[in-house]
Amino acid sequence: MVQNLGERPPEGVTTAKREPTESPAGGFCTLPLLRLCAQPFALVSGISPSPPLHQRPAGVYAFRRNAVNSAVTMAGPGSSPISHSSPASHSTSEARAALLKRATRAAIDYLDGEDARSVAPSPRAVAALGALRGPLPPGPTSPETVLHLLDEYGSPATVAKTAGRFFGFVNGGCLPAALAASWLVSAWDQNAAFFVQSPTAVTLEEVALDWVRELLGLPEGTGGAVVTGATMANFSALAAARHALLQRAGWDVEADGLFGAPPITVVVGEEAHSSLTKALGLLGLGRNRVIRVPVDGQGRMRADALPHLDANTILCLQAGNVNTGAFDPAAAICPAARAAGAWIHVDGAFGLWAAVSPKYRSLTQGFEQADSWATDGHKWPNIGYDCGVALVRDPAMLRAAMSIEAAYLMQSERREPSHYNPELSRRARGVELWAGLRSLGRQGMAEIVERTSIHARHFAAGLKAAGFEVLNEVVINQVLISFGSPERTLRTIARLQSEGTCWCGSTVWQGRTAMRISVSSWATTRDDVDRSLAAMIEAAKE
Ligand SMILES: Cc1ncc(COP(=O)(O)O)c(C=O)c1O
Repeated sequence: MVQNLGERPPEGVTTAKREPTESPAGGFCTLPLLRLCAQPFALVSGISPSPPLHQRPAGVYAFRRNAVNSAVTMAGPGSSPISHSSPASHSTSEARAALLKRATRAAIDYLDGEDARSVAPSPRAVAALGALRGPLPPGPTSPETVLHLLDEYGSPATVAKTAGRFFGFVNGGCLPAALAASWLVSAWDQNAAFFVQSPTAVTLEEVALDWVRELLGLPEGTGGAVVTGATMANFSALAAARHALLQRAGWDVEADGLFGAPPITVVVGEEAHSSLTKALGLLGLGRNRVIRVPVDGQGRMRADALPHLDANTILCLQAGNVNTGAFDPAAAICPAARAAGAWIHVDGAFGLWAAVSPKYRSLTQGFEQADSWATDGHKWPNIGYDCGVALVRDPAMLRAAMSIEAAYLMQSERREPSHYNPELSRRARGVELWAGLRSLGRQGMAEIVERTSIHARHFAAGLKAAGFEVLNEVVINQVLISFGSPERTLRTIARLQSEGTCWCGSTVWQGRTAMRISVSSWATTRDDVDRSLAAMIEAAKE
C-alpha cells in the first residue's frame, strides 16, 4: 500500500531501505552508510524519539536578550572573557540545542519515512501548504513554532527524492556524508567569498575542485568555481570563453561590454541543453544567435556537419544528452577544432562523470581536449542541492571574467573564490562536494555510474518485454519509453505519478512523446527498479 506523503508509517512497519541486490563493482551498500551518518548524530546529540514539535517555546526575543545581557555583564572593561557556563548563556545554548535536536529528529523521521510513502505529494498535502501563506505577522514567532510549521505542512508536500524511486529530470538523492556536511555547513554559516572569511570552506573547495578535475580526467592546471548548478557552470565557463576570444581580438569585454565588440561565432548542437542557450543569452551572445549543428537519432552532433571553425568561434559540445544520455563525438571533433583555434566548451552536467568508470570511460574520450567544462555535483555524484562545477583549462580567463574590485575586498596572491565566481557572498557548498566525494572515493563514484546505468538497462529491458517501445540506445542512465500514442503515454505518466510508487516525467524526443526515466540516485536498488517497473506496466493498462 502506498501511503500519503507525510503520514507516518503504521506501527510495526519497517521503513529502512533494503540492501541493494546488485553491486557491479564490489558491494556498495546503502544501509551502513545511512547508519554511519545518522547514528553518531543521534548519539552525540542524545536525541530522544520524536518529541512533539508543538510545545510552546520561549519567545525569540527572550532567547536573544539572554545572550546580550550575558555579554554585557560578563565582558565589561578589564573583565575576563565571557564564561560559557554563565546561567544566561547556558540557557541560550540549551534552547538552541533543543531546537536543533528537534530539527534533527524531524529530518531523520522524514528520511526514515520516505521509502514507505508516495513519491509525489498528495493533492491534500499540497493544498495544506496554504497554512504557510498569509501576511508576515507583525511580531516574532518562536523558532520552535517555525520549525513545527515547516515539518507539519512543508515535509508532507515535498517530493520524496532520496528514497531511490524518483526518476524525474536528472536528480540524484543526497549522499549521507553530503547531507551531514550540509548540516555542519549551515551551523558554521560561513561566507565562502574570501579565504579570511573561511579558511575551511575555501580550502575544501579547492581540494574538491581538484578532485573533480582528476576524476573527470581533465588536464592538470585546470581551475574553476563551485557554483549553484550546471546552468551557472555553463554561464561561468562561457564568460571565460567570451573574455578569451575578445581579448585575442583586442577587446576588453568586461570593461567595455559587447556594443561594438568584434563578433563571436557560437556553434552548438541541435540538441544543446536549454540551460546552455540560456547562459549564452545572459552573456549577451544571444540564445538564437548561434549556428546549430544537425544531430543524429540519439542527439549526437554530426561531426560531418560542422561549420567553418576559427579563433573567433566558441564550439559547445555536450557529454550526456538530457533525454537519451548520448555523447557528442568529441574525439572526432576536437582535434580539428583545436587546430582552428576555436574555444571548445563542454556541457557535461551529468555525462562527464562517466569518465570515472573504466566501463563507461570511452564515451567521454576527446572531451579532455576542450578549454572549459560544466558539470554538476547534484546530479550523478549525489551531492545534494545545490552544487555545480565550472572548470577552465586556463583559470586566468575565468578570473578575468569574474574578478571583483573594491577597496575592502582582498586582492591577494592566493585563489580567492569570489574572483572566480559570479557571486560575492556565497554558501560553502564546496564543503558538501568535498564530503560527498571523500565518502565515495573514486570507486564509489564509479559504482554509482555503473549501478544506475545497469538499472536503466533493466528498466528498458523490462518495458520492452512488456511490449513498449524504447526510443533511445540506453548508453548510460537515461531511458525514453513510448507507451503507444502520445495520449496513452501521457495518461500512463499521469497515473504513475498519482499512484506514487515512483515518479517519471515526460518529454518529446524528436517528435515522439515519451516518458523519461533517469536513474541518478545512489540509493536506487534493484528492488526499487522492479517495484517501479511493475507500477509502470500497471499504469499503462488500458
Ligand atoms: C546536459 C545538461 N546541461 C545543463 C543542465 C542544467 O543543470 P542545472 O539544473 O544543474 O542548472 C542539465 C540539467 O538536467 C543537463 O542535463
